[in-house]
Amino acid sequence: MCGIVGYVGRQSAGPILLEGLQRLEYRGYDSSGIAVIDHDGALAVLKRQGKLRDLEASIERMPSGGVGIGHTRWATHGEPSDRNAHPHASSNGDVIVVQNGIVENYRELKAELHDELELAGRDWQSDTDTEVIPELISRELAVGRSIEDALISALSRLRGANAIAAVSRRHPGRIYAARKGSAGGIVIGYGEGEMFIASDLPALLAHTTTVHHLEDGDIATIDADGVTIQGAEREAFRPTPLQVDLDPVAIARGPYRHFMLKEIHEQPRALSDTIRGRARVDPPSALADDLALRDETLRGIERVLVIGMGTSLHAAMIGRWWIEQIAGVPADFDNASEFRFRAPLLGPSTLVVSVTQSGETIDTLGAMSHVRARWGAPQIAITNVDGSEATRMADASILIRCGPEVGVASTKTFAGSLAALYLLACRLGRARGSLSEADFADALEQLLTAPSLVDRGIGQAARCAEIAQRHNSATNFLVLGRGIEYPLAMEAALKCKELSYVHAEGYAAGEMKHGPIALLDGSFPVIALAPRGPLFDKMMSAIQQVRARRAPVIAVGDEGDDELATMVDDFIGVPPAPPLLTPFALTPVIQLLAYHIALSRGLDIDQPRNLAKTVTVE
Ligand code: G6P
Repeated sequence: MCGIVGYVGRQSAGPILLEGLQRLEYRGYDSSGIAVIDHDGALAVLKRQGKLRDLEASIERMPSGGVGIGHTRWATHGEPSDRNAHPHASSNGDVIVVQNGIVENYRELKAELHDELELAGRDWQSDTDTEVIPELISRELAVGRSIEDALISALSRLRGANAIAAVSRRHPGRIYAARKGSAGGIVIGYGEGEMFIASDLPALLAHTTTVHHLEDGDIATIDADGVTIQGAEREAFRPTPLQVDLDPVAIARGPYRHFMLKEIHEQPRALSDTIRGRARVDPPSALADDLALRDETLRGIERVLVIGMGTSLHAAMIGRWWIEQIAGVPADFDNASEFRFRAPLLGPSTLVVSVTQSGETIDTLGAMSHVRARWGAPQIAITNVDGSEATRMADASILIRCGPEVGVASTKTFAGSLAALYLLACRLGRARGSLSEADFADALEQLLTAPSLVDRGIGQAARCAEIAQRHNSATNFLVLGRGIEYPLAMEAALKCKELSYVHAEGYAAGEMKHGPIALLDGSFPVIALAPRGPLFDKMMSAIQQVRARRAPVIAVGDEGDDELATMVDDFIGVPPAPPLLTPFALTPVIQLLAYHIALSRGLDIDQPRNLAKTVTVE
């Protein structure tokens, strides 16, 4: 989704902004732009629809000037076009703004500002909601307010969640940044005689690991020597920065053709890192020092609700299964964007677990604040980003230690979230006494095999590539699973849609007879997730029904399962796993199948069209 960068210092801002935007490309975008101001206040705004290389190609001469802001836009209001790309300037050209988020009341504000604009013989320059922001700021400046007060006043007029960066011709030498609500963060990076800002840490890491995260309501004034922050209700202060230990090398692609492929291969390590120190078998313990929720609180939990969006929702569905099976606690899952607008019946004894790799997905955060405002139920966030909004809203967080995930389609964070959910189920079961010490130890021992199950699943990459190649012209896929494999069938279908733009549906195999079977014929491949487990025979019946309609079957089952292998058109063997652990064995295979279908279709795997890594708009 949209990305923001900014620079102030002795160097030429333009190339630094472009390089920062490149590091944000993975978030997904459809246009980009930069604005640079020199010390005399001369302004250059350059923006283009398309990829960053289109913007770079359009720049005849890099503007001079050591102050600037840049943006990658993912269109919400107004089509992707040069004129709708950010930055946007006030009609008098004094204030230039980039925004992540949505100004929900932009129509009202445009109507309010319309007469003034008309009087000055000017008109709106874009179809975006963002353009009202510089206009509001410049109106406040015109009545003699300081720029900080103008920003506070302008932001107070906006409805919705917004993260912005701004520069002003009246104050060359500074950039301004502000955050209101959960439209993604703003991180300020400290250099020597130079300062940086970005919506995401990876854009800063090549320059600095000394950073400060803006809080909701903060307005920051940044010059080459540092930052002063002012909140709507706070005295101005100079924050104390943090040191982050993210390794810039970890975000490079290395020998892999795509970040997604690299991240699929990183899953065993991501799992080991997430489990390390949190699952002990002798004496058994889970999340002992990690969960800031005491056993007394966990003992009082009578129900668990797991929420998320996209891939995280599928992890939540599997988590629900484990919480019921391992912890013996009634559990549900819900799509955060639906849950937040319902009036479900929760209570203080319901534990709400939000799964969100980014920690910034607007619907998940909306659901969390819905829970807090309405029920005050205890909340846990499972996320990959320390310090993200979800961690701040939750009572306790489980950080999955996956390292930065760059591919837009989540892979290793899915595996990491699964490990965290499994650990939570174990801890909950033990705290409530529903899991005996021996079963607790057994469940944890099984989890310790997850990295090697994933590793062996990855070993099927060549087979996945060969099968994907054979089916790469299919226009539909049906993916079937039962029990704990049903959410995986949905995740497999999501991966096919995200990466290959092929229509795919994930279905509970038992439901197939109630509709989808009508679609099947020789051109409609079916992927069947069928490891040997309690529901294997039922999966076999479903596969027979598919075969009777002549639809080609690609089965993913236990290595050496000849009965299954000989019955289907294509077979991929994964390591046999205990029934609760099959998601770890199957995950890499469903990811690799989708990856290779997309690869053989020549698609943009790390940045699929229309998608964003962090969805900060509704
Ligand atoms: C976007 C990403 C998905 C991700 C979903 C939820 O759609 O492209 O990969 O699963 O958001 O994101 P979250 O950060 O909340 O896990």
